[in-house]
Amino acid sequence: MIIVNEQEKVFHLNNGRISYLFYVMESGQLGHLYFGRALNPEGSYLHMVEKAHRPMTTYITEGDLYTSYEHLRQEYPCYGTSDYRYPALEIQGGDGSRICKPEYQRYEIFHGKKLLSGLPATYVEDESEASTIEIFMWDPVRSLEVILSYSIFRDVDAVARSVRFVNHGKESVFINSAMSMSVDLPDAGFQSVQLSGSWARERHIHVRDLQPGISAVSSMRGNSSHQHNPFLALKRKSTTELSGEAYGFSLVYSGNFLAQTEVDNYQVLRVMMGINPFGFQWKLDPETDFTTPEAIMVYSGDGLNGMSRQFHRLYRSRLARGYWRDRERPILINNWEATQFNYVGDDLILFAAKAKECGIELFVLDDGWFGARDDDRHGLGDWHANTQKLPNGIEGLAEKIEALGMKFGLWFEPEMVNRDSDFFRSHPDYIIATPNRSTSHGRNQFVLDFSRREVVDAIYEQMYELLSKAKISYIKWDMNRSISECYSEAYPADQQGEIFHRYILGVYDLHERLIQAFPSLLIESCSSGGGRFDAGMLYYAPQGWVSDNSDAVERLKIQYGTSLVYPISCMGAHVSACPNEQVGRRTPIETRGNVACTGAFGYELDLNRLSSEEIEIVKKQIAFYKENRRLIAEGNFYRLCSPFETNFAAWETAAPDRQRAIVTVTRILSEINGPYRRLPLCGLLAEQKYHIESRFLSYDAYGDELMQYGLMLEDKSSGQVIDGSGGCQDFLSVLYEITAI
Ligand code: GLA
Repeated sequence: MIIVNEQEKVFHLNNGRISYLFYVMESGQLGHLYFGRALNPEGSYLHMVEKAHRPMTTYITEGDLYTSYEHLRQEYPCYGTSDYRYPALEIQGGDGSRICKPEYQRYEIFHGKKLLSGLPATYVEDESEASTIEIFMWDPVRSLEVILSYSIFRDVDAVARSVRFVNHGKESVFINSAMSMSVDLPDAGFQSVQLSGSWARERHIHVRDLQPGISAVSSMRGNSSHQHNPFLALKRKSTTELSGEAYGFSLVYSGNFLAQTEVDNYQVLRVMMGINPFGFQWKLDPETDFTTPEAIMVYSGDGLNGMSRQFHRLYRSRLARGYWRDRERPILINNWEATQFNYVGDDLILFAAKAKECGIELFVLDDGWFGARDDDRHGLGDWHANTQKLPNGIEGLAEKIEALGMKFGLWFEPEMVNRDSDFFRSHPDYIIATPNRSTSHGRNQFVLDFSRREVVDAIYEQMYELLSKAKISYIKWDMNRSISECYSEAYPADQQGEIFHRYILGVYDLHERLIQAFPSLLIESCSSGGGRFDAGMLYYAPQGWVSDNSDAVERLKIQYGTSLVYPISCMGAHVSACPNEQVGRRTPIETRGNVACTGAFGYELDLNRLSSEEIEIVKKQIAFYKENRRLIAEGNFYRLCSPFETNFAAWETAAPDRQRAIVTVTRILSEINGPYRRLPLCGLLAEQKYHIESRFLSYDAYGDELMQYGLMLEDKSSGQVIDGSGGCQDFLSVLYEITAI
């Protein structure tokens, strides 16, 4: 999959569907040639390099009025040369100079792909699944080795990139900025697509036309954030969900990030992604190394849906890992929205017993079970049971839940502490705080300094003890505030720029230790809902709580946006009570079930408070999910109709063998006397006959009709009541089961 033209020094990564090409310039820097649909492996491509004499330009060599980094498309641009665009790399030496010019030395190619020590990364199970090329560059002034790594996957249209730095010099150098990837595309005729929002409104899709200059999304909060996701797509104006060019860039990282586009004066488009250089500086001592997080670049000629399917396949099967990766996920019930902090052990048994009766498999005890935790001002850091609420401790409760025939799961917030906790009283110096300055709180809590090994050890020990003693099958790992006044007392002044990154390395380390100690533990990540919902977390936790907003209508946009990058199997989605806790909206229980079952399904309400009719519906939803959860997790997912653009949200999951599909159509507001509607489907076999079954309709049709003419949406909106129940018809959702006959 990697072709090298030794004479021209052109490197061509090609998996038969996509190509990625770069070359060594005369000056020794790397230049970018092409990224897109596969090109002929035999071809010669150096003529793609465009050079021209341009006035007011800074040239590399005297006498040459054509060659300037300013014009050349680059592969890993460095600060301080004649390239005046934003650099991927800035290194500062002890002499204060911030210029660095690593030059090409050699390359190595191997089958497979390396793991990144201490960092999450995609992997292979068999060496034939990917090929990797490492390009070794050398800065003679700093004796700095820069190793650019590229892996192309055989079965996914993606290239994984990361960069490693080794200081072979006698002096320390400072990495001020080191992107994980940078690419200069030859034209800027794109729109950028980003996933942005806020708490309870995460990952909404925003599209903007690129203009000359810079546009970016980023985080400086210490977590990838509710505000912006470490992801960026580029699409042509004419690209749709199903056709046209789309590029996707995703960072496998959970801390501060930058994802940036820059359109220059010649309409060249630079895309870069990596650790946010703002607030970052890494001191690289002699004979030490530093590795950037991994960035994934996807190319699709089949629209945004095509791009998403590549991400889904890669992230579901070669980023998520371990015991739960391919297993059917348990249907869970979580007590948070039903009880908040107010419960005692016996209430929980009644709560869980009803769930068991309905077919739920896992009971998750949320916040409030530990220390003196009756509200959010106390207890974080004391990871032992509050025996006033739970007289038999977590062990006793877990046993009772197991005796009901269910698994038991528990909430933790390992990275945080309240001042009112025994842990803080014994270790007041363990929090992130700047000396002589006040320390801001978030939700009355403070952030533990996970850049320090002894802090991570202290939390690990508490968690290890509990997880070893009690039968705990699942943990919900929460993180409810961002970092402020970032400073660690454990590090000297010239290493304070490392703390944000070291913090997230500490988080990864704690995850890794727990996974090694308890390999069959299912971890769901959470950060006030989706504040750290990123590819980095997926490596440790195969599912994540998408949002604290559990309203089915709000969830349409949140889950639709999330699906741009992240697989359905990783989206924690629950049916909650009515009226909804966050927005007060009343939605039919069918709608809540339909929306939540496109995800890692569960309930977040007290089933004892439902009517017997509702319980019957719940039982049916659970039976449906059990029957279909493998298809939902592993099927090809298609976004069919956008809630950002229409009054509808529609999506489909089609089995890889195309024998079955589930289509979910939700009409947000009721319409009166609306048009007839059809919904063309995807991923079926044209010549296959299918049976279509929904709450309201049942018919047979061939795949070609369903994909061309479309599924007929019954929409009796001409002022009649749909199911005879009367009342409001807003928020109506219908599931269609399409089964090959
Ligand atoms: C966060 C989570 C919620 C819940 C609460 C408990 O907000 O996102 O799901 O666990 O914390 O305090």
